[in-house]
Amino acid sequence: MPPGTAIAAVEEIPEESTLVFTVEDIEADEEKEALLVELDDEVAGWLNYCQHMTHIKIDKGSGAPMRNGELVCENHGAYFESDTGYCSFGPCEGAYLEEVDVTVDAGTAYLTDDEYEFLRTGAIESDPSDLSSSSNVKI
Ligand code: FES
Repeated sequence: MPPGTAIAAVEEIPEESTLVFTVEDIEADEEKEALLVELDDEVAGWLNYCQHMTHIKIDKGSGAPMRNGELVCENHGAYFESDTGYCSFGPCEGAYLEEVDVTVDAGTAYLTDDEYEFLRTGAIESDPSDLSSSSNVKI
């Protein structure tokens, strides 16, 4: 029996970057974005929101930048350890990303977190005319 809901094959996670997926936060009744990042021999899952400004996405849709195994929020340069979610540098230093429980079985990453329901890979589908979020603003 699979350990949870299949998200994606591990090989689909870009090297030195992330894969975004959308979940339903069951208690909040709200869609949220999460990301997968490959570690040495496992995969970690985190909600895709910076801890400096929590409406800002770390992976803006084409994979989060990484430096030395840390996820980088490009907005103000916060670094997050990809295995612990700990912010090691930047304006939210000391904070942690919110974890989403995932596990790998036979080369596939599964969502195993009771708080979330898997909806789809990719970002939240939003109205392209809605530029109210600063992470959507094109300059
Ligand atoms: S919003 Fe991520 S570092 Fe400021």
